[in-house]
Order: sequence, then structure tokens, then C-alpha cells
Amino acid sequence: MLPTLPVYLLIFLPALLVQGSKISTSKKSPAAPASPPPRPPPPLLDDLTWNLGLRLHQVLRSESGSVNTLFSPLLVASSLGALGGGSAGTTASQVQDLLKTSSSSKAGSQVREHLAKALKSFTEANGTSFHLHTSSALFSKQAPPVSQAFVKDSQANFRLQHKPLEKGDSKADLKQLHGWAKAGLGGWEGAPLGTEIQTKAGALILASALRLKGLWGREFSEEFTDCRTFLGKTYTKVVMMHRAGLYRHHEDMENMVQVLEAPLWGDKASLVLLLPFHVGNLARLDKLLTLELLSKWLESTRVTSVAISLPMANISSTLSLQKQLSALGLTDAWDQKVADFSGVSDKSKGKLHLGGVLHWASLELAAQAGKGDADLEEENIEKPKLFYADHPFLIFVRDNVTGALLLMGALDHAEGEALHDEL
Ligand SMILES: *[C@@H]1O[C@H](CO)[C@@H](O)[C@H](O)[C@H]1NC(C)=O
Ligand SMILES: *[C@@H]1O[C@H](CO)[C@@H](O)[C@H](O)[C@H]1NC(C)=O
Ligand SMILES: *[C@@H]1O[C@H](CO)[C@@H](O)[C@H](O)[C@H]1NC(C)=O
Repeated sequence: MLPTLPVYLLIFLPALLVQGSKISTSKKSPAAPASPPPRPPPPLLDDLTWNLGLRLHQVLRSESGSVNTLFSPLLVASSLGALGGGSAGTTASQVQDLLKTSSSSKAGSQVREHLAKALKSFTEANGTSFHLHTSSALFSKQAPPVSQAFVKDSQANFRLQHKPLEKGDSKADLKQLHGWAKAGLGGWEGAPLGTEIQTKAGALILASALRLKGLWGREFSEEFTDCRTFLGKTYTKVVMMHRAGLYRHHEDMENMVQVLEAPLWGDKASLVLLLPFHVGNLARLDKLLTLELLSKWLESTRVTSVAISLPMANISSTLSLQKQLSALGLTDAWDQKVADFSGVSDKSKGKLHLGGVLHWASLELAAQAGKGDADLEEENIEKPKLFYADHPFLIFVRDNVTGALLLMGALDHAEGEALHDEL
């Protein structure tokens, strides 16, 4: 396919630059270019949420038909961490293997501490860097009495509530789980679950729900939005927002990928985007992606003038992660005969097992910045690089305090009126 030729943007650019210079003149200060302070190299390789996120992304994306996958590595890791605390034997060691960093095998207590800290930082940034709705729970079906120590620990360290599933068949269970997710998402109706879940007696179901709307450090102007074509799985009409400013940016010429990091309001988190140079699906980038490469990319970003165009879109997905977690080595937990959840209940033997790991996630890309007094320095924008995201890209939300990976996803398709003529 042809590379994207952002003809519109070339016409549009003067407007962006005017917008940019308006910002520059609004505050009189010396000519020194405003640049965010340099940041220490990202400790990605040493972070279990990035490691789990990338591995999970890889298996999810290797399935045909995976579209707009989105999940929170932090929430998945945290609920597994809680479950790990209630398990023993190989069940426990398989959970631990999933929660390793790629560079070292950290001790269990450090893992718990990191996850608890990241969860705290995440929820505390609510209302500043983003609007967040989230909840996590462990549901149990006709389970033997659950240890209060386990319930307390899961709640205190992993924000995981325990909830019994009411009497009824699988359909009724699903209905209860959906209702719970909707409440957790702040009343927002998540997509239906693609697969069935079978809830036998003794089933434990880990569920997490998250909806996040990022608030930019600097606003994308509402006035500058316009209707464009998003060249995704199908071509659709979408509203795109634009902004020219100083951002951390890197171009990998060899791999033909642009890397952009945009801070969210209050600097408590940032959004990282990976955009292939050319229009096409993300298969090449998905295969290319390793923690080492991502880490290198993020370290290579430099403060640069960038003219960004992004679709205003929601990326949403509802996932059942049994197959994927099994592929990553979590095998014993699902089997009633071998699963060891003796920390969850002392009468667990032959009964308690993992029946599902369900995940609802939604990310909204909108124009707004955060609110409050911000000491925004002037931006001197010169010959901006074009970051024209009218085709699929990968997206990450990372916590700036702990470095944890809050969200990871792909925009393969943007909702909008379908265009029948493929240009
Ligand atoms: C975030 O703040 C909003 C508004 O105050 C609130 O409704 C929501 O429950 C908060 N989310 C979390 C996870 O605390
Ligand atoms: C995304 O979802 C939010 C809340 O559900 C909605 O208000 C908004 O209009 C949606 N944005 C787009 C571009 O569909
Ligand atoms: C977050 O990012 C900003 C720059 O984007 C940096 O100045 C700050 O030190 C970082 N850390 C915290 C904890 O805010």
C-alpha cells in the first residue's frame, strides 16, 4: 500500500503553526526553548507489568481477528498477584513466573510491594491526569468458606474484592458479572464477552474493569477538529484532533516506526504511541515488538516539534484471558484436580480452581487537557515532524511515578461511518 500522504495536513499546517505561535506570544519570556526536563531512562526491563503486558499482547495479537485489543497489565498482574497469595505448589510457582521481570526474578514481596504502590499511584492520579473508573473482584461459585486473611490481604494490597456468584446457571453468572462490570465502568456498557464461561462449583473468577479518559498536558483545540478518513480495518469517517507542540519523539528509520510520548495533565502519567510510517495493519509492528526494542525507543525520544493528528476514538475490549494465560504457562490453576488454592480456603482440595480471568477495558481519546493552574511554558515550534495517525497504531499509558504499565492496546479500527470506496 502507498504511504500516507497527509495532503490535508500540509494545507492545515499553517493553521496549526498559527495556533502554536498564539500560545508562544501569550506569555512573554526569554527565547530559550521550553523543554520538559530530561527524564531518567525508563526502567521498563525491570518492570513486571511491561513484561506481562508485552507477552500477553503478543498472544492476543497472534489470534486471527483480534481487533482493538486493550487491557491493563497492571490490573491483570495485580489480580494474579492476589491469587498467587492464595495458592501453593506449582499453582503458585506458575503465577510467580508470570509476574517476573524480564531481567531478573524478583522476590515475591517486592512484586507485591511494586504492584500495591503502582495501584495506589494509579488511583491517586484519578481526576488529575485522567478520569478513571475501575474495580477488581474475585468471584467464587459455590466455594468452601474463603479465608478471611486472604480476603483482607487481596483487598488491602491488590484492591481485589471477594464476591460470591449467586445461585443459577452460567447465563445467570454472566449476567451478574456483566452487571458488576457495568457498575465498575461507571455505568458504561462494555462489549459483550466473546466466549462462553462455564462456572462449575468451586470456580474462582478474576474480573477487572477499567475505563480511562486521558487528560492531556496541553489541550488539543476543539475548534481544530475535522472529519477525516481513518484507514483501519475498514475505512471510516472519524473526527480528528490536531495539535502542534513540543513532545518527546523518535523516528526509527530502519523499522519505520514513529514513537511519541505525550504527558498527561500533572505529569502523573503519559501516553505513548507507536505509529508505523505506512498504512497497513499492525501485524508487522506486533511481531517486531520486544521489551528491549520498546525500551530503546523510549530512551531515544527527544523533545521535538511535532504536529500531531489523532482520531477522537474509544478503544474498548472485553476479554476472557484463559487461553492466553495458559499459553504463557498458567496451566495448573484451571484444573480442579491439580490446582492448589489452599491459601484461599483450607477445604480447597479437589474443588477450588480458576474458572476465568475476565477483563473489561475502555480508553477514550479526546481533546481535553486537565484542569487547574498549570505553569505551561511557551513552546517554540519549528518545522514540526508530522505525526499523522490516520491509520492503526499501538498505545500505552504508563504511570510516571512507578513506571508501571497501566494500559496497553491497539487501535486497528475506529468507529465511524463506513466508506465504501477505498479511495
Ligand atoms: C475517580 O473520580 C471519579 C470522580 O470523582 C469517581 O466517580 C470515580 O469513582 C473515581 N475512580 C476511582 C477508581 O476511584
Ligand atoms: C467515547 O465514549 C464516550 C463515553 O462513553 C462518549 O461520550 C464519546 O462520545 C465517545 N467518543 C467517540 C469518538 O465515539
Ligand atoms: C514525570 O514526568 C515529568 C516530565 O514529563 C518529570 O519532570 C517528573 O520528574 C516525572 N516524575 C514524577 C514523579 O512526576
